[in-house]
Amino acid sequence: MSQNIASAGYSRAQIILHWLIAALILFQLLVHDGIEEAWRASHMGGAEAGNPLPHIVVGSAVLILAAVRLVIRLRHGAPPAPAGQPAALGLLASAVHWGIYVLLFLIPISGLVAWFGGVQGAALVHGGPLRLLLIALVLVHIAGALVQQFLLRSGVLMRMFRPGN
Ligand code: HEM
Ligand code: HEM
Repeated sequence: MSQNIASAGYSRAQIILHWLIAALILFQLLVHDGIEEAWRASHMGGAEAGNPLPHIVVGSAVLILAAVRLVIRLRHGAPPAPAGQPAALGLLASAVHWGIYVLLFLIPISGLVAWFGGVQGAALVHGGPLRLLLIALVLVHIAGALVQQFLLRSGVLMRMFRPGN
């Protein structure tokens, strides 16, 4: 994942995909009662029969959109770090971005393996460490965006609103 083409800015497609995926992730993190009930009913003798469909459909959409986004990212690249920014901050931002990309694949795939393969371990990893790591990385990511905007005043936040080319 070292490919780092410098572009003039994120493209319109990259920006739309960023906010669409962010909204879908938020939905997935908040709306999961149906699939949890269905999972317990089918694997743990639970009595309630929830509707798993919204979680499966939206989660699978995240997987497809993440793949599209990754292809565009590798072809189009991303704008370089703002001038004068400490190298450590740039490295942290890159690590967080690529960490999130990896989770955008691992989380839906572990969910699909759990649900369609009936693999309990995949469900545990899906709802446990992977979910917590995603939440932690996204919180660091949002904190970074706010620090860039309000403390460093680098204009980085606007990159995800205004297409660069
Ligand atoms: C980015 C996409 C996804 C996110 C962020 C996500 C997130 C979550 C969360 C937060 C839970 C509740 C875990 C808990 O509180 O213990 C959950 C449960 C679950 N998800 Fe997903 N999910 C995603 C995609 C999928 C997909 C595509 C499937 C495929 C069917 C799936 C299958 C499941 C199953 C089976 C459970 C119940 C596991 C259990 O209760 O132990 N998820 N998911
Ligand atoms: C679940 C929510 C989110 C996810 C999964 C996510 C994911 C990502 C990823 C993977 C990148 C790297 C883009 C690339 O190189 O292709 C990125 C960039 C960016 N994100 Fe997010 N993001 C989320 C929420 C947010 C929020 C809430 C904000 C604003 C507060 C934000 C602001 C930005 C900005 C400004 C960039 C560009 C950073 C730069 O050019 O260095 N993101 N995001």
